[in-house]
Amino acid sequence: AQKMFHNEVGKIKTRQEAEQLSVKYIGRTGIVSELMKVIPKLPVDKRASYGKQVNALKDEMCRTLTDLINSLSLDKKPANKKEFFDVTLPGKPADAGKKHPITQTIDDIKDVFARLGFEVAYGPEVELEYYNFDALNIPSDHPSRTDFDTFYIKEDVLLRSQTSTVQIRIMEKQKPPVRIIAPGVVYRPDTVDARHSFMFHQVEGLLVDENVSFADLKGTLNQFIKSYFGQNVQMRLRPSFFPFTEPSAEVDISCSLCNGKGCSVCSYSGWVEILGAGMVDPNVFEAVHYDAEKYTGFAFGLGVERVAMLKYGINDIRLFYENDIRFLSQF
Ligand code: PHE
Repeated sequence: AQKMFHNEVGKIKTRQEAEQLSVKYIGRTGIVSELMKVIPKLPVDKRASYGKQVNALKDEMCRTLTDLINSLSLDKKPANKKEFFDVTLPGKPADAGKKHPITQTIDDIKDVFARLGFEVAYGPEVELEYYNFDALNIPSDHPSRTDFDTFYIKEDVLLRSQTSTVQIRIMEKQKPPVRIIAPGVVYRPDTVDARHSFMFHQVEGLLVDENVSFADLKGTLNQFIKSYFGQNVQMRLRPSFFPFTEPSAEVDISCSLCNGKGCSVCSYSGWVEILGAGMVDPNVFEAVHYDAEKYTGFAFGLGVERVAMLKYGINDIRLFYENDIRFLSQF
């Protein structure tokens, strides 16, 4: 078989012939397998050495054929024509990864507040009921505590429904002055549509010091809105209620950003709500053992998706979570 093989190899001219030869000799039903089939018929003491010999033969054939096939494939290239290579052609740009638009938005928000002296803090997404509700002065019969508004993991343990939890965690550890923002994911059992998701992002803000007033809150938010959206965007405060702030407000911005292509997150009134805010309620200070006579503070919680949708004219929140590269590569 070895002689026959080398004989035939000598006659090979094309790659196709070489491949056929490889099937004939070392294919699944080829000559080498036939040789192997003999083994059980041999006397026991001959079997091992015979098997070794056949294996060595197979290895050798395999090497010869691989070299042959490789060399024949190279030969296919035009031998005498010099290949023309245009060195002035632009190269193919490598596909670079990018930050997700939500991450970019959070980074931009962090930048603005960093300039105002805010540090970044984080808290857990799996939270105790205490941090999500009790310490935030949310009464035990408040509707936001029901299964309709909060994902419970088990009694006392839940997926946080707001980043206000981080206010408590920071104040427990740190004495005033406090000046933090806390970006992160929150969860609420909402039905998914163009404006709602069961998971979204917030940036919480908290500032506590002596003599902090509502004017400081308004000034800080105004500074943020002008820096982030542009100088001609207007801000409006509407009286509201949150158990952990008193007084409380909801903050709208003017929809001038959405002109042209229209903007589905804007209401017909021309204003859109982007955050809730207020002066920290004394009951919250009590929960973290801060002296409510000495210190005052403000807090706010901003919806990141809402802000990103306004800034970039995105009309469907689901686009953020579908990971469609045609959407993501636009940012
Ligand atoms: N936690 C509130 C919400 O999710 C927002 C908020 C934060 C309001 C801080 C006031 C102060 O709606």
